Amino acid sequence: MAVQVLAIDGPSGSGKGTIARLLAKRLGWHMLDSGALYRLTALAAQRRGIGLDDADAVAKAALALDARFEGEDEARVLLEGEDVTLAIRSEAAGAAASIVAAHPAVRDALLERQRRFAQPPGLVADGRDMGTVVFPDAPVKIYLDASAEVRGERRYKQLKEKGLDANLDQIIEDIRQRDQRDMQRPVAPLKPADDAYVIDSSGLTVEQVLAECLARMGK
Ligand code: C5P
Repeated sequence: MAVQVLAIDGPSGSGKGTIARLLAKRLGWHMLDSGALYRLTALAAQRRGIGLDDADAVAKAALALDARFEGEDEARVLLEGEDVTLAIRSEAAGAAASIVAAHPAVRDALLERQRRFAQPPGLVADGRDMGTVVFPDAPVKIYLDASAEVRGERRYKQLKEKGLDANLDQIIEDIRQRDQRDMQRPVAPLKPADDAYVIDSSGLTVEQVLAECLARMGK
């Protein structure tokens, strides 16, 4: 039986991670957090003293990546047996991920690993190129977008809630820079697949986005 795949792509802060996890839970499907694989690859490389610009060496580290996703919703992330769930979520880890993600050899090294996540009964795949490159045959593809301002405000609120210092203008500027890097790279640039449903979540609640995605799936 063919495994069903729902591809969810979009820029950082569009809310796709939250939506993807809620959908996986609702559907009882597996979850691929592909961004975590790029974050883990960058961390593994840094721990080996490999420069993030050394494409071949980083690609080797990606091929050999000893990563596991555990727990009920596969949200606990282990690198070589060590829990790095929080460590890979920092802004620095995200920036490092976006540097290694621009190397074609690194993307190739992670391709088959990502496809192996497609296990019965189904997979919700969250990323930047799920619908365009990794699962081009996915029957339903969602591209979740939101303005840089709205995404910046969400991030700002999250940081404030954690009691961390934050500067809204700086956050919005960082988001714009990361978007630019992800959209302008020559391989697998961030863009909606031709057959993706584009949803702008700027003025929508999580429940509204969820309902829209389920409707697209005919559920
Ligand atoms: O989604 P997340 O913020 O965890 O992704 C971190 C970085 O990894 C992104 O900014 C992007 O550069 C890269 N990435 C990618 N392709 C994916 C997922 C993430 O290039 N499918």
